[in-house]
Amino acid sequence: MSIQSIKPENDGLNIFWNDGSSSCFPWLWLRDHSESENDLHPDSKQRQIDVFSQTLDNSVVDAILDQNTKNILVHWSDKSNSCVSFELLEALASTGRPSAQALANDSCWDSANEIKDFPKMSFDYFMSDDGLKQWLGNIQKNGFVLVSGAPATADATKELMEKVAYIRNSIFGGFSVWDNKLTNPDDTAFTSLAIEPHTDGTYVHDAPGLQTLHCLKKDSVGGENQLVDGLAIAEKIRAEYPDYFEILSKINIPGRYIKTETYLEAKRPLIRLNDQQEVVQVSFNNHDRAPFRLDNDSMNQFYEAYKVFHNLANDKSRQFEFMLEPGTVLTFDNWRVLHARASLTGYRQLCGGYHNREDFESRLRLI
Ligand SMILES: [Fe+2]
Repeated sequence: MSIQSIKPENDGLNIFWNDGSSSCFPWLWLRDHSESENDLHPDSKQRQIDVFSQTLDNSVVDAILDQNTKNILVHWSDKSNSCVSFELLEALASTGRPSAQALANDSCWDSANEIKDFPKMSFDYFMSDDGLKQWLGNIQKNGFVLVSGAPATADATKELMEKVAYIRNSIFGGFSVWDNKLTNPDDTAFTSLAIEPHTDGTYVHDAPGLQTLHCLKKDSVGGENQLVDGLAIAEKIRAEYPDYFEILSKINIPGRYIKTETYLEAKRPLIRLNDQQEVVQVSFNNHDRAPFRLDNDSMNQFYEAYKVFHNLANDKSRQFEFMLEPGTVLTFDNWRVLHARASLTGYRQLCGGYHNREDFESRLRLI
């Protein structure tokens, strides 16, 4: 869509598009969105114009369509000018409330067999110019990616993670190396016990966006890993159990992490939706669920709904099962994919860490 002509009106500037439609942009909006050097800092892209200032006279002298620079210029009575690009006007031709970015539900999977173009690449390819783009695309599409042929070292894993973005710090530190023989493990993850499908960080307000795991040393039996697409489960519940979907998208479930010096707690629905009712985030950790109580009828309904999600997550036919081997680095979308692990005997050393969700989204936007 491109701009054909403009017509100043009392309540704003009417813009006529080449498809025959029109949009009226209020004058105050145009001033507020001016991209001139004075109004929008050219380097930081931060707004400098303050349309709420008492000193501005927001009455309009005229508006000009400049096809050469692809900008619309507005001259104001206080002798200042605004400049708004065609690009911005075209991008915002339709109105709508800003809402959180939805997960890509056109490619969710109910079993590993449904995953087309299995998300796996070599370490060398990841490190090449195009590698990161494909890596990010795999996570966006399928919720995870495996990088094979990586040096089985903490340094190589850290290098891989830092190619994406800075590594997030958390209660467990930043980039970490750990094994299953700790004398005082902080979390079941650092033991040999089985862990049910879950997402990490249900007890923090901003759960980690991506999680990376790499098994560096392995002299063990068992410990198979499972991934299950939480988005696919959410969409199945929406389609088949709408009452349960309502409960799981409305009831805030508290998660907690309690240690001697730490008591973290956060609450959000298992299925978080945006204004368009699209799934933004799945948060599920039965191990870390904190006590809460609803009225008895609501509590019973909650248990029924939660059980449906729990049982679908634990359904082996929905899970992609594999063994983390030295040389293969797993990264998954912790806002979408649940991870689990079977119990093991023997010794295993792992390393990894988290990325923030916004840093993952930033990379996707720029690439
Ligand atoms: Fe975990």
